[in-house]
Order: sequence, then C-alpha cells, then structure tokens
Amino acid sequence: MDPQNLCYLNGEWQPLADARISPLDRGFIFGDGVYEVVPVYHRKPFRFAQHLVRLERSLGEIGIANPFDRAGWQALVERIVAACPADDQYVYIQVTRGVAKRDFAFPADIKPTVFAMTTPFQRPSAQLRDGGLHAVTREDERWARCDIKSVSLLGAVLARQFAVERDAQEVVQFRDGWLTEGSASNIWIVKSGAVSGPPRDRRILEGIRYGFMGELCAANSILFTERRIARAEVDNADELVLTAATREVLPITRLDGKPVGNGAPGPIYRRLRAAYDAAIADL
Ligand code: PDD
Repeated sequence: MDPQNLCYLNGEWQPLADARISPLDRGFIFGDGVYEVVPVYHRKPFRFAQHLVRLERSLGEIGIANPFDRAGWQALVERIVAACPADDQYVYIQVTRGVAKRDFAFPADIKPTVFAMTTPFQRPSAQLRDGGLHAVTREDERWARCDIKSVSLLGAVLARQFAVERDAQEVVQFRDGWLTEGSASNIWIVKSGAVSGPPRDRRILEGIRYGFMGELCAANSILFTERRIARAEVDNADELVLTAATREVLPITRLDGKPVGNGAPGPIYRRLRAAYDAAIADL
C-alpha cells in the first residue's frame, strides 16, 4: 500500500500517510462501524451497485444514517480510483458512528466518520488458481450477527491467525456442526456436479459473490442450492471452493492436511473460474 495514495476522510482528500482520526472515534474504541471492500478491474468497480446496497443494509442494521446517496458514493469512488496508478485495485470504504465521549449507548447528534482508500490489487496468483489453497476447520466463535459487515473483526482476525499458524490460508468454520463460512470468504461445496452454499441468514455474511455464484451457475447449467450443510458433507465433498472480493473464486485443495477430492482443482471450479474471468473481461 502506497502511503502517498490519496484517501478520503470526512470530506478531505489527502495522502493516506497524513490521515488522522481521533482516538475517541467509536470505530477505534468499540469497533462501532461497517465497511465494504470493492474490487476494481481496469479502473471499473465490479458489482459496485451490489456493494452499495450491502453497505446501506449494514448501516441500517446498526442505526447509522448513510452519509451519501448512490451518486455520492459513485463520485467518491471514481475520484479515488482515478488517483491511483494501478488499473486493478480494491477500494476500502468504512463508516463509523463517529467521535464522542466513551459511552456504550449511541450518543445523540453524532456525525459519522467516513473513510475510503484504495490499494493496488494483485489478483490471485497462478499458483493459487491452479494449485488451490489449504484450509483448516474450526468452530465458528464469532458473534451472532455475521450478516452485518462490521469492523468489529476480532473473531475473523483470530480465525485467520488460527489458519496461518497451521500453514493454511483460510479456515472453514462450523457452528453446531453446520458449515458457516471462512474468516473473510464464503465457502461452497461441490458434490456430483452441484454447488451448495449455506443459508443466507445471520450466521454468514452474504458475500457479493454469493449472488454472483448463483448467476454463474445458472448461466453454466450447474445446479445451485442454498441449504444447511453438515460437517460430513464438507469432509466428503468432491470440491471445495471459496469466494471473496480479494480472492475472487479459488479452490480449496487441502482441508486439515487431507486432499479435497483428488487434491487438484476440480472441473466445477474450473468452469466457475473461467466464467468469473470472462465477467471481469466484459466489465
Ligand atoms: N471479506 N464472509 C466474510 C466474513 C467476509 O469478510 C467476506 C469478504 C465474505 C465475502 O464477501 P464478498 O464476496 O462481498 O467479498 C464473506 C472482505 C474481502 C474483507 O473483509 O476483506
């Protein structure tokens, strides 16, 4: 990340290295805020409208008024993307409840803190695309509102660290024996040519790539279902796939040290990968 990159903070445009927030910002004190990560390909935000809808929803769920309308966000993101030399980027947007004396309850008449930056995006390497990544299973210890894209990310941080300490790049989490998601990705199982993902309820974040997977499957005549997925189905899946803004779509080829399927990226992943690449090329 280039600290000279232009960022936006509360109406000011400045190099990232110069941006300052108050230690009393409720994002810092309580993790009281929400965020978005929007991939940008050849300078065009990908599925941007969907990201703005999710941001609006996250803000609504925690009672923060959206500081901008769609056109306002669009203009802000266009400016930040234009100022960055890289063609592929990911834009990070964060809105917190704002600055106030430390008190758990919401203060009255507080102005949200609005921050946005962009980072050059190294798309997943050929090694990851063709070799897959390693994951480890773990009990999901996060909170009960994983549907909100909250900046309170300690649960995700500890989950990802758990993976890294076991030479893996992601976790596959379960709550009461049912598949939820990764630390920062949605997880999919493939069995007999069909793709399944866990229900879009409060236990997972509905990734922007969740709906997109449904669309890609429909366009490629791949059966797609949303349903509860038991631990045994994950262990016996033909393929495991993850999706996230920063990881696009990638195969998980080892789980808890054992090969998934035959240990190589499977045919359904390859079709989804090709379709994802085609969608980027068409942007
Ligand atoms: N995280 N689930 C969780 C818990 C996530 O944090 C993410 C993304 C996803 C996938 O959502 P999407 O398809 O919209 O990227 C699912 C982002 C990339 C992050 O926090 O950096």
